Parts: sequence; C-alpha cells; structure tokens
Amino acid sequence: MALLQELDTGTPIRTGASTVTLTIDGRQVSVPPGTSVMAAAAMIDNPIPKLCATDSVEAFGSCRLCLVEIEGRRGTPASCTTPAEAGMIVRTKTPRLERLRKGVMELYISDHPLDCLTCSANNDCELQAQAGNVGLRDVRYGYDGANHLKAPTDASNPYFTFESSKCIVCSRCVRACEEVQGTFALTILGRGFDSKVGTGGVDFLSSECVSCGACVQACPTATLNEKLVIEKGTPERTVVTTCAYCGVGCSFKAELKGDEVLRMVPYKAGKANEGHSCVKGRFAYGYATHKDRVLKPMIRERIENPWREVSWDDAIAYAANEFRRIQAKYGRDSVGAISSSRCTNEEVFLVQKMVRAGFGNNNIDTCARVCHSPTGFGLSKTFGTSAGTQDFRSVEKTDVVVVIGANPTDAHPVFGSRMKKRLRAGARLIVIDPRRIDLVKSTHIKADYHLTLKPGANVAVLNALAHVIVTEGLVNEAFVRERCDLANFESWARFVADPRHSPEATAEQSGVDPGELRAAARLFAMGGNGAIYYGLGVTEHSQGSTSVMAIANLAMATGNIGREGVGVNPLRGQNNVQGSCDMGSFPHEFSGYRHVSTDAVRETFERLWGVPLSNEPGLRIPNMIDEAIDGSFKWLYVQGEDIAQSDPDTKHITSGLRAMECVIVQDLFLNETARYAHVFLPGASFLEKDGTFTNAERRINRVRKAIPPLAGMADWETTMALANAIGVPMSYTHPSEIMDEVAATTPTFKGVSYARLDELGSIQWPCNDTAPTGTPVMHVDRFVRGKGQFMLTEFVATEERVGPRFPLLLTTGRILSQYNVGAQTRRTASAVWHSEDVLEIHPFDAEQRGVRDGDLVALKSRSGEISLHAKITERVQPGIVYTTFHHAETGANVVTTDYSDWATNCPEYKVTAVQVRRTNHFSDWQLRDREEGVSLRRTEKALADAAE
Ligand code: SF4
Ligand code: SF4
Ligand code: SF4
Ligand code: FES
Repeated sequence: MALLQELDTGTPIRTGASTVTLTIDGRQVSVPPGTSVMAAAAMIDNPIPKLCATDSVEAFGSCRLCLVEIEGRRGTPASCTTPAEAGMIVRTKTPRLERLRKGVMELYISDHPLDCLTCSANNDCELQAQAGNVGLRDVRYGYDGANHLKAPTDASNPYFTFESSKCIVCSRCVRACEEVQGTFALTILGRGFDSKVGTGGVDFLSSECVSCGACVQACPTATLNEKLVIEKGTPERTVVTTCAYCGVGCSFKAELKGDEVLRMVPYKAGKANEGHSCVKGRFAYGYATHKDRVLKPMIRERIENPWREVSWDDAIAYAANEFRRIQAKYGRDSVGAISSSRCTNEEVFLVQKMVRAGFGNNNIDTCARVCHSPTGFGLSKTFGTSAGTQDFRSVEKTDVVVVIGANPTDAHPVFGSRMKKRLRAGARLIVIDPRRIDLVKSTHIKADYHLTLKPGANVAVLNALAHVIVTEGLVNEAFVRERCDLANFESWARFVADPRHSPEATAEQSGVDPGELRAAARLFAMGGNGAIYYGLGVTEHSQGSTSVMAIANLAMATGNIGREGVGVNPLRGQNNVQGSCDMGSFPHEFSGYRHVSTDAVRETFERLWGVPLSNEPGLRIPNMIDEAIDGSFKWLYVQGEDIAQSDPDTKHITSGLRAMECVIVQDLFLNETARYAHVFLPGASFLEKDGTFTNAERRINRVRKAIPPLAGMADWETTMALANAIGVPMSYTHPSEIMDEVAATTPTFKGVSYARLDELGSIQWPCNDTAPTGTPVMHVDRFVRGKGQFMLTEFVATEERVGPRFPLLLTTGRILSQYNVGAQTRRTASAVWHSEDVLEIHPFDAEQRGVRDGDLVALKSRSGEISLHAKITERVQPGIVYTTFHHAETGANVVTTDYSDWATNCPEYKVTAVQVRRTNHFSDWQLRDREEGVSLRRTEKALADAAE
C-alpha cells in the first residue's frame, strides 16, 4: 500500500468495502465504486497519460490527454472524469488515442518555452515526461503567432516563484489551493487562449496566499517551483522524516543534494498530513543550517564572563564536576533538569532517566508544564488516560465541530485545512474564543455560533453549556447509563442544573449572550457527531484543568466519545508535547503516566537501572525557580527549552536563573536562557538525528537522520555522555535501543519498535497485545479507567482582575508564519510576514486612549511593562487586547503574571490585566535588552537574510 500511496493515481482513490470489476487493456481490476478509470488503471500499473489530473484534487477534465476508448460508448471519454463501472471494457492504447494525444500535446508544446535543458524542472516535469510518453517528435505550429512566452515571472514569495510563461493553465494549483488548503487564493482569469492563473490582482506575497506550497506541489511544470531547486538543481536523495514544528506531526520527504536539503515534500503516506503541509514545515527549515548555530561547546565560570570554546569532553566534565560539587554542598534536591517537547521521545526518556537514576530525585520537568499539563490531569481524571481520544481523520465524520481556545488555521494549519474541508462539506461550527479567529468567517465557512467570552471565563461557559444540556433533557442517557459512573453523573447533573450555572446567570461574568449559548448547546447535543477541539486558550488559565474536565463532562453527557467523528481533542502545541509527557517528563510520573509512589512501577525501573529510586514527586519548573531564589536549588540542565523567554513573569525566571551556580543549556542557538548559563552544549536539529515524535493524535512518527549532526553529537548522545560522566551508565548505540527500553517498561508502548514503525509507517498508542497496530480511537467500548467519571467543575474567577489601573484584559496567541519563541522561524525568510509582535486593540479602546494604528504603545501590567506597535482591529472585542510572543525583544512574558493552574501550575498566560497608553520610547526592560544587543540583532539579521 505504501507504494500505491506514493504513486500519483491521477484522481483520489475512493475507499469502501464494495468493489466494481472492470477490464483495462485486457486486465481485470476491482476498485471501490466512484474510483475513476484513470485511478483504476494506475492501480494495475498501467498509467494513462495525464496533465490536469493529480490525485490530491478532484478531476477537472480540461487537458484531454487522458482519453480512452470504452466498449459500447461513443467517442473518447476522459479517463480522469469517468467513474469505473462493473463490466466496463477499457482500452488505453490504440492508434486513434495515440494520434489524439499527440495532437493535444503538440498544442501545449507550441506555446511553451522549449528550454528544457536549462529549465529548473528538467527531468522533474510532467509536461516533458508526457511529451516523451506520447512520442511527440516535432511541432507543426511555429512560435510566430500569439503566445505566452514572454509572460512575467512573480518572485515575490520568499520560497517559490511563479514563472507564468511556463503555465499550461491546467488549474491544478487553483484546485489544490481550494480543495487541499482551503484558502482560495488563486483563480483562473479569462477564457480560452487568454486564460491565466490570477492571485487577486496582486503578487503572491501580497495576496491571500499562506505559502502552504500545495500549488507548488501540484504544478506539473516549472511554473511554480521552489527557489532553492531553481538555484541548486534537482535533489538527488530522499529521507522520510517528521516536521519538528507543531503537534500535527506532518511527514515529509526531505530531498537533498549531498548534505543540503533542497526541498521538503509532504509525504503522501504520512497519516497525519496525507501529503499536505504548511509554510513552516515545507519551507522554514533553513534555521537548521543558519549561521547563528553554535557548533562548539562552551563554558564560563560566571555569567558575566565571555564564553570560552572547549572540547565536548571538557564541557561535559565541567558540568559533571559542578553537579558533584553542588549536590555535595547543597544536598540531593539542589539539582534538576528540564526536558523539551521539541526533542525526540528517546532524548526525553534519557533525560528523565538520568535525573531519576543519577540525581536520586525526581526533579525533572518539561515545557509541557506551561502548555498542556492540564490536559494530562483533566483527561486522566475523567477518562483515565492523558491524551486526546481521536485521530485527525475522525473529523471527516463530525457533524458539529466545537473549537474552544484554539486557532487551528494558524497554530495547527494542516489539521486546520482538514477541518475546513469538513466544514465546507456541511459540518456545523461553534467557536468559543474571545477573538475572531479566521475560522469564524473565511471563504465558504461561517461559524454557526461564535461565543465571544471574556478571557478567564471558560469554565463558566462550559458549565452553562452543560446546564442547558441537562435542564433541557438533552443528555444521552443510554450512553451515560452504559458507560459512566451513574452516581457520579447524578451529582454532576444536580451541580450544573443549579440556576447559578444558567447562561443567563453567568452572562455578566462570561460576556456571552445567553440566547446564543443556549442555541450552541442544543446544536452540540442534538446535531449528530460532536467533536471538541481545544488548545492553549483552555489550558493556560488558573482553571485550565477544570476546563479540560468540563469539556470531558460535556462529551460524556452527550455520548460523544468512543467512535469516529466525536471525541475530545487537545491540539498540542509543539511537535512532541504528547511524547514528552508520555516519556515520564513530569516530576510525579514515570513513562506511561504512572505515579512515582507506585511501588511496582518503581521496582520495574529499579531492577532495570540497578539503583533505588525516589518515591517523592520532584520539583516543577516554577518550584525550581522559587527554590533557586531561596538559595536551595543550584544546578540545572535545560535541554531544548528557553524558559527565560517562554515562561511567564520573565523577571522572576531570570532572577532564579541568576541565583543558580551552574546552568547548562543544550540548544541550537544562544537563546535567552543561555544568557544565564555556564555551560553551552550544541544541540542538533531534527534533520540531524534519529528518533520519534508523538503528535496530538498519539501517533508515533519516525524522525530519520538526513544529515550528520553539525556539532558532532545528536542530542541523545550528548545526554548519554553527561549521564555517564555523572555516574549513570548508558551505552546505547542507536535511539532504537532507547525505544526498546521504553517498550519494555511502559505497557502502552509494549508493541512499539523501530521495525514496527517502519512496517506500519506510524503507530498510535496504546500499542500492545490487544492493539498490535495501535489505537486510532480510544475508549471505544469502555473508558480506560472503567466508567467515565464526571467531575464537578466550580467556576472560580481568576485572581487577575481588571480595575481602574489595569482596565483591559490581555490574551496571547500565535500566528501562522511564526513558531513559539521564534528561535527557528525568525531565522528563516518567513520573517517577511511577521517582523515584530504587535498589539491588537479594538477601535473603541484605541480611540479612548488616542491611539492610532501603528502607534508605539506601552503595555503595562502588575508584573512589568513593554512597548510595541498597535494594530487597531475589530478581531478583538472592546476591553480585550491581544499579542503574539514570537520575538524576544518584545518580551510579551514580561507582562504576564505568575498565576497558574491550581492543579498543574500551568501558567495563566491567557489572562493579564493591563493598561495601554501611547508612548514614544521602549520600556526599560527592552532598552536594557537592546543594550545587551542580543535579541534586537537577531531580528535585524532575520530581516536582512530575508531581504537577501
Ligand atoms: S501556496 Fe498554498 S495558499 Fe498559496 S496559492 Fe499555493 S496553495 Fe494557495
Ligand atoms: S501554475 Fe502550474 S498548476 Fe497552475 S495552472 Fe499553471 S501549470 Fe497548472
Ligand atoms: S502543520 Fe505543523 S507539523 Fe505540519 S508542516 Fe505545519 S508546522 Fe509542521
Ligand atoms: S488528465 Fe484527464 S482531462 Fe486532463
């Protein structure tokens, strides 16, 4: 099947149990009804010449190259638009067809530059291939008449060009933009000879295009082609790997010439993306070889000193000696580590192993602390496992999509496109978000309800939805009776039915119109398969865990769990958030979410690792910082995480880092945290190592080494060296051996191995004896915990309140072209789309403050003050302001507070009371940052690179 998935069958392959059998050129083939004759022929390795067809989009039938003869039918129908039928007898190679095809091809070639030898798509061009295929040897029409040979080239997009003289107007790009990406940026303008591809009257860069590359991939000629391929030639080798940006986990073919990646082609057989991508995964990989990469280990005794390059051995020995000195002086718990959701499962597993087996404590935490730790807590309490319930494909069976606190088209774009496709096909949509995200209204999509709640009111809104469902008799009683704990349900039902949870009673606190909320609740409960997708707008609150449980309650009450099309779906931010949690990165859990106090689990690891393990949960990141400020936490190993930029209340974090005696940073770049570090260990990008990432669907995908580690060591090798120096013996020769150890010790991973991953492509855990190929949908017959557990979710307003000094609420988010703290994306040409973070403010609030669009404004909270430029927009409601956090020099987290989720300490990034005023200068924090010059220089460099 993998081979077939790599083949371009010309039109999409239909699925289904029933088949029709037809005969093509004397061979019988059985295909599901609706499959085209073209795809049927491709499936028996008998490809029919084609130009306008490709299997990522529906057939169009314009080029007439794919003609066939069908017994009993007149003429020569196009095979791409003709469905296969039972008993059909098809001929694809007759003298008449050959003559007709040659004629078609002759017309195309007569208006096409014949510069094949110097063309960037030479040997990689379907027009060229088909001309050879049909045996075209000469062209009777000259170039003297009207033609398009001097049509202009649009090179405005930083990653690809549009060379319109080579366009054959096959419309594959237009259809890819509509059907696959859902952006509708392209059209065919004009008719007949005058027809051409249009980008809305502007160039590509200024158009609606979001640079996903689907059109480039679909283009059969060199018209749309990657700039790097144009510059460097066609790639020579391919490595299948996984994107290292977001939690969608798209599979790519990294195509290389020597050790240089020339393009990333979305992998059709990749189950998370099925051949699609976004701008980041497809184009923004240049950071991996950016000149800012630090490739030599460095040390310094004091953070005021300059860095000194040293050998790997010296750097590791220094870190290990400091470890011994500090632990001897300050005690067992004075040391700890932070692992990263950017790193592979294997790397993360090694870091926690080093801590537990070598430090003698459980002081290991992960950046998932600051994003999805409430998901782990909330879903574990209600369903019994800390993960989303579905695969991405499930959305194709959804009737009512609920998106709460997530912005899929910006933060999870490939899944966003999939969701939009389902919405265009008729699914209903409820958006619960303070801001008007793109999904609320975009081409051919309009949310049925947009509940514009105030930041911090998630639980009030979710309880009100539950109130309507319970009091209006919309509960799926059969499901609840069979699958859930009944006594527990009844106490929950009484709780939410209380009039204080009604939409009317909570309207003032939530800001949501009660009528709209009631209608949305009815739609979710009665509209068929309902699926809830949520993101950091749910978790990063003081009641993040409560919100997750309230979402789970809603899904159980309406019976929307345990089959395709429904479920609770956390959209994970980083590439391996799910995996880093699965691998035991939290201070209270071993891999597979097993508490450190469970004797049997501890004994499993003690037997294998040969040391006694602590049964006391260790320090979380905020505890490490607090204890550092108190003087009892002194040594920290941070792998692939930039807490000085990404964690809230920057001043508090940096004070903690300054108070430590040895901070070891392992990263690609000298990040903000490295400013407080004593040892710098160069990291390796995803292109330089083997391993696995686990995406938001629990799908374990292989990461494969495309080039050798630029600094000489992959990250797992660095951790292993440090562990050995500290006294934890490790002798893995390949990350597959680490995965074998995970499988041997973790029941949900029991059936996972690299061999199995290579065989199946990817695996969704649990994968064990009862589910040897993995589990696409969880909780099918019973919840992992047995009976589903309804949890009482009392709404408690955050301590962070607006008042006369801070009358506005700040909330934060991401944009498509950038990624998290921007360390990667700002070092790519994507900087052209987002050179700075801006503050979105409603016209009413702007006018009250005399702020005009583009003005520099001061944004002040109880924690701190920064300055940034204002963007006046009605995307935000009055009383709410919004910004992104992609640029270190903005310092968005200087203003966020240290309030956090009651259960998990996940910071409350999404609610900060602020004031905004015009200013003519940057804040003290920013000026100090600029004096030190680090982050400002970085953006200037990115822009200069992009300009090049
Ligand atoms: S890059 Fe994507 S969004 Fe842009 S025109 Fe092509 S398909 Fe459309
Ligand atoms: S740009 Fe490429 S895909 Fe689009 S119409 Fe022209 S040849 Fe076809
Ligand atoms: S959607 Fe996410 S995983 Fe896929 S290409 Fe984009 S950033 Fe990478
Ligand atoms: S490939 Fe069928 S008409 Fe173009």
